[in-house]
Amino acid sequence: MIGEVLTVKDLSCDFLTLEGIVYAVGGVNLSIRRGEIHGLVGESGCGKSVSSRALLGLLDKKHSRIRGHAWFDGRDLLTLDERELRAIRGRRISMIFQDPQNSLSPLERAGKQIEEAMANHFDLSRKELRRRAGALLERVGLHREAARQYPFELSGGMQQRVMIAQAISCAPELLIADEPTTAIDVTIQAQVLNLLKTLRRELSLSVLLITHNFAVVAETCDRVSVMYAGHIVETAPTRDLIQNAAHPYSKALIDCIPRGRAGAGTNPLPVIPGFPPRLYDPPAGCPFAPRCNRAGPACRVLPPNTDLGNGRYAACHYPIPADGVSPGRDHE
Ligand SMILES: Nc1ncnc2c1ncn2[C@@H]1O[C@H](COP(=O)(O)OP(=O)(O)O)[C@@H](O)[C@H]1O
Ligand code: SF4
Ligand SMILES: [Mg+2]
Repeated sequence: MIGEVLTVKDLSCDFLTLEGIVYAVGGVNLSIRRGEIHGLVGESGCGKSVSSRALLGLLDKKHSRIRGHAWFDGRDLLTLDERELRAIRGRRISMIFQDPQNSLSPLERAGKQIEEAMANHFDLSRKELRRRAGALLERVGLHREAARQYPFELSGGMQQRVMIAQAISCAPELLIADEPTTAIDVTIQAQVLNLLKTLRRELSLSVLLITHNFAVVAETCDRVSVMYAGHIVETAPTRDLIQNAAHPYSKALIDCIPRGRAGAGTNPLPVIPGFPPRLYDPPAGCPFAPRCNRAGPACRVLPPNTDLGNGRYAACHYPIPADGVSPGRDHE
């Protein structure tokens, strides 16, 4: 159970649009360890979904330009062709999305959809497919009978469970969950997050949990990577990040969690003065500089991702020291 299941190095992604080039993702460095739930958190629009879709070859190749490396089982996913990726997607790395409507067909029964996910990769009899689909539904906390229902007959939370059953049906090593609880009820959210934790334990699954909600990370993730304007700005064990964020943006995100309400149900939108940079002409230096209360002369140059020790990394010229309380420019 040691080692990393996925290592992403310098991932960048530009979109070629009629209005110009959108520099959506500029520098993603990420490593997901075997058996961990790794959070990827940041404001809406910072590039979380684009990054994960780029990894699995799900972006329109004609209008996007992807660079970097993504090592999975000794191979760089970004160099694989569609046929090779198809053998990995859904089988060894699977993905669930915010919106069950986009992943489940309205026209087919839930059980059938799980069976089809397995039939794509395994040569199994119809009877065995049906048996496995029933077992998977039970594993995600539904009754076997749900197999006979159409998605519209199921609640949002139940649809989400069917999607999870589908995603784990081929026993993948890595599950990428993109805002899996954003569209569902607060109480159901906590249940779905608990289900992810249970599955991780029972199936030795690694999970990349993408969310804009830091409270979800606090509740669920072992480690977390914080993303801002297309860059990972800090990676750390979740508890360390909450207690001692090194990057000023991480600190600002954490300060937005309402005190005493760090449950998964809260939905804190960051209230940090200012706006993220325009993606058409990103700044040369640190993208957070216009909003940063620690910015200094060095910040005109893009800060490199730096190893701070103890499994912590931050891309900041003036990281907040570990004792953490100094609020401002102690470098001047
Ligand atoms: N096909 C596309 N063409 C142009 N810009 C895009 C495209 N897809 C995403 N973007 C832009 O990339 C940025 C990152 O988007 P996304 O990864 O979806 O953010 P989020 O962090 O909310 O998941 C956004 O500003 C979005 O507008
Ligand atoms: S590099 Fe400078 S501007 Fe960027 S977060 Fe660090 S202190 Fe702030
Ligand atoms: Mg998204």
